[in-house]
Amino acid sequence: MNTTTTDGGKGPTPAGPSPRFTYLVIGVLVAFLLLGTGGFLWMSTGHGDRITSLGGPFQLEDGNGKTVTDRDFRGKYTLVYFGYTFCPDVCPTTLNAVADAMDRLGSKAAKVQPLFITVDPKRDTPAVVKQYAAAFGPKIEGLTGTPEQIAAVAKEYRVYYQEHRTGPGPNDYSMDHSSILYLMGPDGRFVAPIRADQSGEQMAAALAKWIS
Ligand code: NI
Repeated sequence: MNTTTTDGGKGPTPAGPSPRFTYLVIGVLVAFLLLGTGGFLWMSTGHGDRITSLGGPFQLEDGNGKTVTDRDFRGKYTLVYFGYTFCPDVCPTTLNAVADAMDRLGSKAAKVQPLFITVDPKRDTPAVVKQYAAAFGPKIEGLTGTPEQIAAVAKEYRVYYQEHRTGPGPNDYSMDHSSILYLMGPDGRFVAPIRADQSGEQMAAALAKWIS
C-alpha cells in the first residue's frame, strides 16, 4: 500500500498545513478508500483489537423468494460475502475459492454456511442468486432483497457498493464493491475477516483457525 505522495516540488507555505502534509493526508485517505472495509479490518485486527460491532440483524430473501433473517442461521458459523452475479472476475474467483475451501474443511465444513448477498438487487432476483450461488457449490446460499434491505445489511457490515455506468441502457452498469469475507459466529457475532483474494487452500486454513 502506497500512502506517500510527492509534493510536486512546492515547498511548505507559512500559513496552514503544508502541501506535502495535505498530499500525504489525501494519499492516506485514498489508500483507505481503495482498501475499503478490508484494509480497515486488517489494520484493526492486526493490533489485537476485536471488532464486535460488525454485522447485525437483517431481513432478506432467499433463492426461493422466502424471507430469511440473521436468526435463521444461528447455531452455525456464516461466511458472508457481498457481490453481484454480473461481476466479471472478483466475485466468481472468490466464490470458487469459498467452494474449494468448504471442500477442504472436512468435518468443520458442516458448521459453516457461506452466504452470498447481492449488492445488485435490481438484476439479482431470488431465482438469479439461487442459480448463481449453486453454480459454485451446493453449500453457498444466495440472498437478495429490496434495495432498502440490501442497503441496511451492507451498512451493518460496512460494505461499500456503488453503481458504475458503462453505457446508456438500463443494464449498462457494473457495481463497484468492497471484497472481503466476514466470518460470523454461531451466535451471529463477528468473529474475523477472511481475505477474499486467496486460494481455497489458504481460505480453508484461515477458517479452520476460528472454527471450533
Ligand atoms: Ni464482484
